[in-house]
Amino acid sequence: MKGVYSTDSPQETEDLGAEFSRGLYAGEIVGLSGDLGCGKTRFVKGIARGLGAKGCVKSPSFTIINIYEGGSIELYHIDLYRIGGADEFHCAGLEEFIYGKGISVIEWADKLPALLDECDWVVRFSHRGESKREIEIERRSGPR
Ligand SMILES: Nc1ncnc2c1ncn2[C@@H]1O[C@H](COP(=O)(O)OP(=O)(O)OP(=O)(O)O)[C@@H](O)[C@H]1O
Ligand SMILES: [Mg+2]
Repeated sequence: MKGVYSTDSPQETEDLGAEFSRGLYAGEIVGLSGDLGCGKTRFVKGIARGLGAKGCVKSPSFTIINIYEGGSIELYHIDLYRIGGADEFHCAGLEEFIYGKGISVIEWADKLPALLDECDWVVRFSHRGESKREIEIERRSGPR
């Protein structure tokens, strides 16, 4: 699933995330970019639902990573908003998850360009109005 999508409500963004999740494989890395409040976390909520993950998705901003188990594949939800730079990222031990067997979805992945290069998917969010968002899904790695 790739291309440019437009959503008119948080629910539509969540549903798009659920649809997107069906094309994901174990071990893949998904980088999300876009301004504050443009729907990244809402999209992850849809991915979690699509994978059948247990637990409610909330922003991991204060914890850096939330792990959702119980679905078809483990989901690692990472938020780099408060990460200072590559050194801090390295010290946080996140690579263990990112290169692990689950699916990693990383908010603010564009803060670390080297990490963005590692992503199998890059999803870019833009505000297009009060409740309108443009969501561009790009596949980076080759087809399976
Ligand atoms: N079409 C839409 N899609 C998603 N969210 C929308 C939409 N329209 C309005 N919203 C609102 O925008 C906000 C999106 O919040 P969300 O936490 O998903 O953003 P975020 O990109 O994760 O922000 P942050 O960078 O702070 O983590 C919510 O308050 C939601 O209700
Ligand atoms: Mg968020």
